[in-house]
Amino acid sequence: MADKWFESVAVAQRRAEKRLPKSVYAALIAGAEKGVSLADNLSAFAELGLSPHIADLPRERHFATTVMGQDLSMPVFISPTGVQAVHPDGEVAVARAAANRGVPIGLSSFASKPIEEVTAVNSQVFFQMYWSGDRDTMVQRLDRARAAGAKGIILTLDWSFSNGRDWGSPWIPEKMDLKAMIKLAPEALSRPRWFWEFIKRAHIPPLHTPNMALPGTTPPTFFGAYYEWMQSPLPTWDDIAWLIGEWNGQFLVKGVSRVDDAHRVVAAGATALSVSNHGGNNLDGTPASIRVLPSIVAAVGDDIEIILDGGIRRGSDVVKAVALGARAVMIGRAYLWGLAANGQAGVENVLDVLRGGIDATMTGIGRASLADLEPSDVIAPEGFFRTLGA
Ligand SMILES: Cc1cc2nc3c(=O)[nH]c(=O)nc-3n(C[C@H](O)[C@H](O)[C@H](O)COP(=O)(O)O)c2cc1C
Repeated sequence: MADKWFESVAVAQRRAEKRLPKSVYAALIAGAEKGVSLADNLSAFAELGLSPHIADLPRERHFATTVMGQDLSMPVFISPTGVQAVHPDGEVAVARAAANRGVPIGLSSFASKPIEEVTAVNSQVFFQMYWSGDRDTMVQRLDRARAAGAKGIILTLDWSFSNGRDWGSPWIPEKMDLKAMIKLAPEALSRPRWFWEFIKRAHIPPLHTPNMALPGTTPPTFFGAYYEWMQSPLPTWDDIAWLIGEWNGQFLVKGVSRVDDAHRVVAAGATALSVSNHGGNNLDGTPASIRVLPSIVAAVGDDIEIILDGGIRRGSDVVKAVALGARAVMIGRAYLWGLAANGQAGVENVLDVLRGGIDATMTGIGRASLADLEPSDVIAPEGFFRTLGA
């Protein structure tokens, strides 16, 4: 519907804020502690400029690429997020939108939909895991992902179980029982359009994590799954190399900020890494991922595929990241805003906004293909970049 179309991710975010109950919107904003990294992810992209040409501009621009053996229509794909109550169709709607726009989806192990329902609508699924449970449990999760047709694994390692935000965290119930529904009713009723989407499908968000269940068991609740993860001994590099070996295929380690860690990811046998600070939701004070990207590209860019996530809100952000050495980017909140604003069509809308922005930026800087992009296409203020662990 024409009136639901939006022209930028910022507009989608404003619609999401209007449409979602306060606590659901707050859960998407997320962030940790003071929100320094969350803010830096966004302000860093704004600090980077572009240098325009005005004639001899490329009449056609090409930005298809490959990541982890998959074809992408543009250097953007879906980062895994474990948010359950945005829309009743959740990850299935996101996966359909991604398939329609020719990009893969990273599916969170804390997702609300079983992986089998997601691979049924998008053949390009990367299953995301945390270091949670014992080795047998992790192997069973790999086996399930493989059987469902996952094309690769994303292992997210940048999590320190920090808690507490200066602006307060939303209350999330353990399960949607009568007590929780009564408590949340005023919020839900204040957002009738959001509530109606659930009512018309007779769907109450179950707040469970079906991909964390072992075969034949009931899916744990979000908190049950989080507890298992918190209780699991933190992995060593040998553990990580073991998991990569067990999968024996395309494997991305997510959450790298330091050059020494990037070398270890390569040595462990991963095929890709994501330069990421978990969207500013983890260790607050970690620099924006775009600030550390060039140091990691210089160190391991010939050995592994390098993805960036954190702060991507427009096509020019994508072009800046690729010019600075990323093969592609993943998006998090951008598609969550689209999903909240208009379901599957909203996610497609976000992907179209990014595609249009990539095309306009490449036209403006006179680049016909991703391979032509160079770091010198980006104007970075002095002292912008950071090198950690080198
Ligand atoms: C609400 C929310 C939930 C997230 N859940 C997960 C998750 O389950 N697994 C994961 O690897 N990353 C998770 N992330 C991090 C994203 O995959 C991604 O790194 C981050 O959102 C990128 O930053 P951006 O939101 O600025 O694009 C989450 C992020 C948000 C905002």
